[in-house]
Amino acid sequence: MRNLISITDLSVQESEDLIKTAYRIIEDPAHFAHVCDGKKLATLFFEPSTRTRLSFEAAMYELGGHVLSVAGAASSSASKGESVADTAKVVSCYADIIAMRHPKEGAPQVAALNASIPVINAGDGGHNHPTQTLADLLTIHREKGRLNDLTIGLCGDLKFGRTVHSLIQAMSRYTGVRFVLISPEELMLPGYVKHDVLEKYDIPYEETTDLEGAMPKLDILYMTRVQRERFFNEEDYLRLKDSYILTPKKLKNAKPDMKILHPLPRVNEISVAIDDDPRACYFKQVLNGKYMRMALILKLLEVEA
Ligand code: CP
Repeated sequence: MRNLISITDLSVQESEDLIKTAYRIIEDPAHFAHVCDGKKLATLFFEPSTRTRLSFEAAMYELGGHVLSVAGAASSSASKGESVADTAKVVSCYADIIAMRHPKEGAPQVAALNASIPVINAGDGGHNHPTQTLADLLTIHREKGRLNDLTIGLCGDLKFGRTVHSLIQAMSRYTGVRFVLISPEELMLPGYVKHDVLEKYDIPYEETTDLEGAMPKLDILYMTRVQRERFFNEEDYLRLKDSYILTPKKLKNAKPDMKILHPLPRVNEISVAIDDDPRACYFKQVLNGKYMRMALILKLLEVEA
């Protein structure tokens, strides 16, 4: 039985196979409409979500399956003190696969150790968000036609931004990839990602606070929100929240074929004036997330389609 807790739980070949399955789903969704008939996905979300929860649920419905949902800790027995381990054992009695989001880093791993069905990490605290990375990989592949030889700018909250941590882990496995890490000093990439991934595998990277200075060299600009919910005090959040706001003027020196990604939700870090720019891909990313989650559910449920 397989789980997806970190993006590196999938080999490069496996993540590319998921991309191939996603392309097949895009080309012929009717072929997949009943492949999960009778199967049940439990979405256990102990932290707010729009995209991840709804795209997992849409993915399962579009495969013919059913969904059981816990949206928010307050509506589940977690509010009475039930542990993640017990919750995982209980939900294993009802469902065939679990997607779990939790504010505590490592909670989906604990669930996986106790469940008797596959567990997918749908975002754990400021740690990892592997299925967002699957959405990002398909988006980059569809938009650039490749996953290698790319200069990727990651901008905003690189400290708490779990999507950034997972994307770096995934893209570091491709040749010719380099990163430009653009953040305020206080929100720089954590040491465990810098040392255990970038330095360990000798991946070229630079750190800067200057978004406009970095712009001309980027093939991908991955914007992120400053994560209010992870700050210990409101003052720090208020001081840092407007560090980077992408406007049409700031794109003046960007490559004409640079692609702009954002995991969303957006607060104000990308001006809505950019939404109609052909380089803006963040709403395409949302749709790609559903296709990749469909492909992932098929893989973990070992459904041949
Ligand atoms: N990208 C993402 O994880 O969005 P949600 O928090 O809405 O699920």
